[in-house]
Amino acid sequence: MSEAVVGSRVQTQKYAVAKVSEIPPGGKKIVEAGGRSIGVFNIGGEFYALRNVCPHKGAELCKGQVKPYINSSGPGDFTYEREGEILRCPWHAYEFDIKTGCMIVDPVMRTKSYEVTVEKFDVTVEDGEVVVHV
Ligand code: FES
Repeated sequence: MSEAVVGSRVQTQKYAVAKVSEIPPGGKKIVEAGGRSIGVFNIGGEFYALRNVCPHKGAELCKGQVKPYINSSGPGDFTYEREGEILRCPWHAYEFDIKTGCMIVDPVMRTKSYEVTVEKFDVTVEDGEVVVHV
């Protein structure tokens, strides 16, 4: 399956990588699409996809733990925010925003993020397909 974006310099190809039910809220699945390893995440029913390569030293980033964002105004004071939206690299624990691919402490450093859609290819099937646009 492929699709060209008409009127744009960017061409993407679409890859059906999972059934919606395979990646429940809070879940993730690492897939191969377009010759790339990509992590697909479900955050509150919305899907996001990141290249499975850490921009720091090349670890398989998407194998890291999914965490909340920890906010602090000073010693002894912290709150957990954005539960399930932060990905911690398994090698050196740098943290990334799953929704953007940007590193938390230095947003210029990022891993590639991809558009994700949910599509139904067969009207008799109730479970849609998660599609990554590479
Ligand atoms: S390789 Fe990911 S933080 Fe170093």
